[in-house]
Amino acid sequence: MTILAKFAPLKEAYDLLRAQGADPFSLKFDAILSPTEGELNGRRTILLGTNNYLGLTFDESCIEASTEVLKAQGTGTTGSRIANGSYNGHRQLEQKLAEFYGRKECMVFTTGYQANLGILSTVAGRGDHLVIDADSHASIYDGCRLGHAEVVRFRHNDPDDLYKRLRRLQDQPGDKIIVAEGLYSMLGDTAPLKEIAAVKRETGAYLIVDEAHSMGVLGEKGRGLAEAVGVEADVDFVVGTFSKSLGSVGGFCVSDLPDFNLLRVACRPYMFTASLPPAVIASTTQALKVMQERPELRTRLLENAQRLYDGLTGLGFATGPQASPVVSVSMPDRAFAIAFWNALLEAGLYLNLALPPATPTGTPLLRSSVSAAHTPAQIDTAIELFAEVGRQLGVLPEAAPKRKTA
Ligand SMILES: Cc1ncc(COP(=O)(O)O)c(C=O)c1O
Repeated sequence: MTILAKFAPLKEAYDLLRAQGADPFSLKFDAILSPTEGELNGRRTILLGTNNYLGLTFDESCIEASTEVLKAQGTGTTGSRIANGSYNGHRQLEQKLAEFYGRKECMVFTTGYQANLGILSTVAGRGDHLVIDADSHASIYDGCRLGHAEVVRFRHNDPDDLYKRLRRLQDQPGDKIIVAEGLYSMLGDTAPLKEIAAVKRETGAYLIVDEAHSMGVLGEKGRGLAEAVGVEADVDFVVGTFSKSLGSVGGFCVSDLPDFNLLRVACRPYMFTASLPPAVIASTTQALKVMQERPELRTRLLENAQRLYDGLTGLGFATGPQASPVVSVSMPDRAFAIAFWNALLEAGLYLNLALPPATPTGTPLLRSSVSAAHTPAQIDTAIELFAEVGRQLGVLPEAAPKRKTA
């Protein structure tokens, strides 16, 4: 018995999973060939499980910007910005992000996860109330745990429930802070942000929106769901990440609140970790520019998303409530989901296997995330492979035999 004995049930479940085929949680690609293709066990595999929404990981101009700065400024900052100072690039990226969002201030974090940890745990203090969507990402839950505010959950995407919970808090002292996501990462559904903003106005709460999956995806300029539904003025803090549409790593928060910069000396996940390497900052800054200069990437992404959603829904698979770059197929049970995922992988298609309790519906999901870089032919291949495996595993009827031609 060791200290890790407490993980025995997890080990048992994990061993069982691995006994059924590949390990979905530690695949080793032989090579990444492009934003949409990798090599796995010697075979070309379509990548349909990354968050590379605009396909910018291989963008020439981003690679060049990054390489140049890497050579000039080295591989890392080796410390936090409060200890080691900022490089030009950090401040410049903050200015560009603030400009892009039309906000006064911006703070860049080392990951999107840390942006949520930092903002939630610092902005909401002891005696305040964080009112979060029940299906929030782990980084939002962890941000709540790191801070000292009371935490209340409202039913997923239910503004009436949100309103009820805020009304119950109305006589309690302390600030109330609503937290919602633009586009939810498991089912690809968007928040009813117009209605949430109305509740915020009526109850005098603050509003934080995590646009991790909606930046570069939604809104005329790609600022996310708040832009798309016209409620940006109601959002006090926009949190986002560089690891999806911008193709790198890092996170940020923008705001108009006076004294926002005080957080730089109050926010532990900003203060006590090394800042982003200058080369990452450089590729991100360039990706932000490309994202704004090439709105056609967003159009292509949404066309690809619709194509995949229509294809899978048309085959009879249970997909999420709306077409979006996240297209998830609900599986009846765990064993079936694992078998399906392995069969797709063997056929040359990689996507995410999401198992309860990490899924919002309590059922396993096969989760695809689409990229602007996918060709329509790759999307069609993905749909065909779903159909083929569905027939193999007996959830789709056999294809009608081809008519003989004379
Ligand atoms: C909604 C949401 N917020 C934050 C994050 C964290 O982002 P990062 O990967 O940059 O740490 C994720 C990551 O998937 C996410 O889905």
